[in-house]
Amino acid sequence: MDLASLSTSLFLLSLVSLCISDDQLEPAKPLVFPNDKLISNNGFFALGLFSPANSSSTRFYLGIWYNNVPEHTVVWVANRDNPITISSAATLAVTNRSELVLSDTEGRIYWTTTSSVTTTGGAGAIAALLNDGNLVLRSSEGAVLWQSFDHPTDTLLPGMPLRMNYRMHITQQLVSWKSPEDPSTGDFSVGGDVSSGIQFFIWHGSNISWRSPPLSSAMNSPYQPSDASYVIFTSVVVNGDEISLTYSVSDGSVGLQLHTRIAYTGRYEYRIWNSTASAWTVLDRHPGPGCDGYASCGPFSYCDVTEAVPTCKCPDGFEPNGSTPSGGCARKEMLRCGDGDHFTTLPHVKTPAMPVFVRNRSSDGCAAECLGNCSCKAYAYANMSSAMSGGDPSRCLLWFGELVDMGKYTHIDGEDLYLRLAGSTEPNNWKWARLAFPFSSSCS
Ligand SMILES: *[C@@H]1O[C@H](CO)[C@@H](O)[C@H](O)[C@H]1NC(C)=O
Ligand SMILES: *[C@@H]1O[C@H](CO)[C@@H](O)[C@H](O)[C@H]1NC(C)=O
Ligand SMILES: *[C@@H]1O[C@H](CO)[C@@H](O)[C@H](O)[C@H]1NC(C)=O
Ligand SMILES: *[C@@H]1O[C@H](CO)[C@@H](O)[C@H](O)[C@H]1NC(C)=O
Ligand SMILES: *[C@@H]1O[C@H](CO)[C@@H](O)[C@H](O)[C@H]1NC(C)=O
Ligand SMILES: *[C@@H]1O[C@H](CO)[C@@H](O)[C@H](O)[C@H]1NC(C)=O
Ligand SMILES: *[C@@H]1O[C@H](CO)[C@@H](O)[C@H](O)[C@H]1NC(C)=O
Ligand SMILES: *[C@@H]1O[C@H](CO)[C@@H](O)[C@H](O)[C@H]1NC(C)=O
Repeated sequence: MDLASLSTSLFLLSLVSLCISDDQLEPAKPLVFPNDKLISNNGFFALGLFSPANSSSTRFYLGIWYNNVPEHTVVWVANRDNPITISSAATLAVTNRSELVLSDTEGRIYWTTTSSVTTTGGAGAIAALLNDGNLVLRSSEGAVLWQSFDHPTDTLLPGMPLRMNYRMHITQQLVSWKSPEDPSTGDFSVGGDVSSGIQFFIWHGSNISWRSPPLSSAMNSPYQPSDASYVIFTSVVVNGDEISLTYSVSDGSVGLQLHTRIAYTGRYEYRIWNSTASAWTVLDRHPGPGCDGYASCGPFSYCDVTEAVPTCKCPDGFEPNGSTPSGGCARKEMLRCGDGDHFTTLPHVKTPAMPVFVRNRSSDGCAAECLGNCSCKAYAYANMSSAMSGGDPSRCLLWFGELVDMGKYTHIDGEDLYLRLAGSTEPNNWKWARLAFPFSSSCS
């Protein structure tokens, strides 16, 4: 290439860069709404001011949405509970104190970032909308001062963590929109159960509407939706007291158009963009149909999700306490505690809610711990992968009192639950093998 054509190309390039929206926001160049946007380098995500569909266009929100999905799909909202009511004069700027501030010309501030990192210089920070949809504010030294991935709205994008801290009893939450036209804080949320530290909930207000199985290595097994060419990997990482859940997709470009979100209806959905149908396809959702909702079947009853229509059933050694198992199940024979109780194995189940997590036990030690305490009704034992264990790979769970929200799943999803029964109860279901323990009970 000769110099003349090189300089022509450079000239064209600079023209192009003048026309395209940038992915970076610098202190000297605030975004002026309603027209300015940031577009990620790969063109997948946009950040700007939006007004929800069908609303009377008097409320404006700073948000991130898919830039190349025809159905306007917002994945993050900055000022969800503090909309701007005039759009012409609003700006998003990086201040000389290294904050992002959404304000109008009359000086009203609608939203601002808060950073836990204290910077020395202050000025010179730059915000960028990255290819994965993360808006990141960095100091002039390159330190991350704030990022939207740490402040989720209702959507979890691939690579975005959902964190809980067991010891500090705090969890990040996804919180639904109020309605399709209203991004303000809705009634449904998703987050970690900080009391056990090893399961996730969907809440309706303060009531649990669905519960994940307890975290286990099985959760890290890849999920391939039927007919899909890609695989979804979930990863649970324990770092000290903090547990974080993220997922990723084997095919990067497909993955960028896949997310999970808590919809305003209360369903937690995995969605992928189907460009043929030009619509979002829901791959999976919780709660599912039938008795999948939290504690839909009564105490000691389980929801059999392997049936075409999931239904409540009683485990071996139990019978319906009432006309059907959906009201709960009662023991055929009372536990005797000291004399001859045994454990029966319920294979591939979603273990009950509210386990007590006992650390540092072997499998035998976990069984002995349960057998040795008359109030212990069941236990489950698993080894965690090294990433999940935080140093102690054992995961011994014990249950006291009523067993609620059990489910029977397909082979890959469930784990074995050891349920305490009185000695003489014989299993009447060949699928649920009996397992007696060679321990003498030490109840006093
Ligand atoms: C907006 O209104 C149209 C027509 O009433 C409707 O079909 C569409 O679903 C609405 N959009 C949303 C996001 O509610
Ligand atoms: C930072 O910005 C504010 C408001 O624009 C201005 O009043 C102040 O002088 C600036 N401070 C520095 C150190 O530049
Ligand atoms: C939560 O549960 C209580 C008791 O069952 C019920 O009265 C209340 O309406 C529920 N709240 C929501 C938001 O569903
Ligand atoms: C996408 O939509 C088309 C047309 O509705 C449908 O035939 C196809 O199965 C969908 N693909 C996926 C992966 O859902
Ligand atoms: C069976 O149902 C009765 C009446 O509702 C209740 O009092 C009892 O606690 C139940 N038993 C069990 C084991 O759930
Ligand atoms: C785990 O238990 C073993 C044997 O009971 C004990 O020697 C060890 O110190 C325990 N480790 C921790 C971290 O508690
Ligand atoms: C049995 O476990 C319960 C609940 O953890 C506890 O309160 C009780 O003290 C234990 N009993 C014995 C004998 O260890
Ligand atoms: C847990 O790990 C131990 C030692 O590696 C192994 O013997 C045992 O079978 C494992 N238990 C389960 C439930 O995977």
